[in-house]
Amino acid sequence: MGDVRAHYDGSAPTYHEQYDPELIWKNSEYPANFFRLQKVIEILRRAGSQSVYELGAGEASPIVRIHKELGIRVQASDLSPEMVRLGRENLAKNGMDPRWLSELDLNDKAAVQREHERVGTFDAVLALGVIPHVPDDDWFVDAMSSFLNPGGTLILQFRNSMFSMFTMNRLTKEFILDELLSPVPASFKDVVAADLDQRLAVDKPPIRRRDDGHGYDEILARFHNPLELAEVVKRHGFSDISYRWYNFHPTYPMLAGAIDPQEYREAQIALEADESWRGMFLCSAGMIIATKQ
Ligand SMILES: C[S@@+](CC[C@H](N)C(=O)[O-])C[C@H]1O[C@@H](n2cnc3c(N)ncnc32)[C@H](O)[C@@H]1O
Repeated sequence: MGDVRAHYDGSAPTYHEQYDPELIWKNSEYPANFFRLQKVIEILRRAGSQSVYELGAGEASPIVRIHKELGIRVQASDLSPEMVRLGRENLAKNGMDPRWLSELDLNDKAAVQREHERVGTFDAVLALGVIPHVPDDDWFVDAMSSFLNPGGTLILQFRNSMFSMFTMNRLTKEFILDELLSPVPASFKDVVAADLDQRLAVDKPPIRRRDDGHGYDEILARFHNPLELAEVVKRHGFSDISYRWYNFHPTYPMLAGAIDPQEYREAQIALEADESWRGMFLCSAGMIIATKQ
């Protein structure tokens, strides 16, 4: 399996492009993180948060934007030395203190404890694009919680496994067999598997590899079931749990090429305003929002 740190060291130099408003229409890849950040800022504004800690903060584009728009205290950390180096440059370039970003591996419990003692607690804690790369959900939510004041807001992004019920591809097959039918006898699953091989595009999606062996689909990058993840959050002392969805798909992804790219992107962006149940199936990612008791 590829290495998470090496993956993000490699993607660090171009990561900021995802937040560039000039590229929203030009980038071939949908700028999902741009819309995610808009939603995060809105959530923090509504919650009235005066301080925020971000775990796995990358090259600091989110904390820079949050500080500029809301004027609140920000502090953050990340695993990848290259993300941290560029993030500190980013902070300095924007007139902010580079020490607001430090290097930290969330899997190192003693290091998380030291960081928590160093920076204290906050009104909100963010983790965007990070839980897919960490093996232990309970520890992850515990670590987030340790940076939060009572009454504070947790914003936890995850890759949405329910989206697989819409993709009609290999991910659908895996979701049905491994999740939905997990309690069913193996012989039944064999029958379903053979049927799904006929109905679904099981050769898709393509696996994202990199020459160095650290492509996104070669590292630990787990999906989460939103309902199960909410249960984890609940048992770590959180209430008022809700979802915000982003990265909407107006058709399943393999049909996108059949539609004019500009029209397709317009439809994707228009859907970002949808706050209904549809996001649970049309979105490849979501965020759990919760309050620490
Ligand atoms: C998808 S990127 C998102 C970056 C940033 N949160 C954003 O939204 O722009 C995920 C980040 O999580 C960091 N990360 C992954 N595993 C980590 C770990 N064990 N400890 C701390 N950070 C980690 C990576 O280095 C990477 O910068």
